Amino acid sequence: MKTTIFKTDKQSLAEASALLQQGEVVAFPTETVYGLGADATNEAAVQKVFTAKGRPSDNPLIMTVADESQLDEFVVISEAAKTLMAAFWPGSLTIILPIKPGRVEMIVTGGLQTVAFRLPDNEAARQLIRVAGVPIVGPSANISGKPSPTTAQHVWHDMQGKIAGIVDDGPTTVGVESTVIDMSATTPTILRPGAVTQQQLQAVLGVRVVDATSTKSVASDVTPKAPGMKYRHYAPDKNVVMFDRLDALTLKEVLQKNDVVMAQDATIAAMAISQEKTWSLGESLETATEQLFAGLRYYDDEATVATIYVEKMSPIGIGKAFNNRLGKAAGNQEFNV
Ligand code: TXA
Ligand code: MG
Repeated sequence: MKTTIFKTDKQSLAEASALLQQGEVVAFPTETVYGLGADATNEAAVQKVFTAKGRPSDNPLIMTVADESQLDEFVVISEAAKTLMAAFWPGSLTIILPIKPGRVEMIVTGGLQTVAFRLPDNEAARQLIRVAGVPIVGPSANISGKPSPTTAQHVWHDMQGKIAGIVDDGPTTVGVESTVIDMSATTPTILRPGAVTQQQLQAVLGVRVVDATSTKSVASDVTPKAPGMKYRHYAPDKNVVMFDRLDALTLKEVLQKNDVVMAQDATIAAMAISQEKTWSLGESLETATEQLFAGLRYYDDEATVATIYVEKMSPIGIGKAFNNRLGKAAGNQEFNV
């Protein structure tokens, strides 16, 4: 199949939307990572997304919309859910809601009585969906098990020849997938950490929000986790090891010829190792998160690289999401001194 690259002008987006209407798969930009779009109301189209990703069919897809009004047909929306939408949409929050029986394709929900919705903070994505006239499914546009794509080139690498098109809106700004919150249970529960934090969610809702991904959360509080969390995720083929910045100089001593380091600028400067062996995570938690998947993908394709050492971030704000994705990529391997 020929994969067409689309720009974000009106005409190009209209052509990409037409492909969606014809039941084809088109990758689209969001502020978090690129997604794989297909008409969520067309079973055959959604099947193509599972095939392109190589994704297990029991892992449900999220539905991506351009406007809140697109939800009414499919789900029951509580007052609390409306509060979240008003506060965080458009933005990096995916909200799980109870479905209206029979309204959502089984292939989208994986047979669950709930479905997840997201309204991304990306104008091209919203325009694409608006013109298509239907919600589109939107899993990350990587091959299942690989780091999510943060550029159109990453999507091309994984999906070229397998999907009809890619809308290129440049690099994404957040860099990790959205926060997933389950609003179908009695206690709002975070199933995946992202740019929208537990503190922000609690402040807006005015009630306790459980973080099912935190080791501190009590087992009995934990409603079934996002089915996707049980699969190996975000992982490159290379050996990935996390390290603490306090151990940077010790790490330098044991670094082998084919090892590389992804770290913040201050850490790289302190280690004083050659630039070809380092990937800058910039100076802030935000830049580190934006760069994480790009660095992992880059070194994964470098034949000579053996181990990728990646600096852990402070577990505050989006640092929690960074460490969560890094932990998955590293299979929780830590550099120990
Ligand atoms: O930022 C994002 O959310 C990106 C962009 C493209 O929008 N999308 C994304 O989708 O990360 P995906 O499918 O790769 O991850 C969605 C996660 C999966 O772990 C899935 O298992 C979980 O959400 N999920 C989806 N529907 C669910 C449901 N009804 N109940 C529990 N978990 C659900
Ligand atoms: Mg994914």
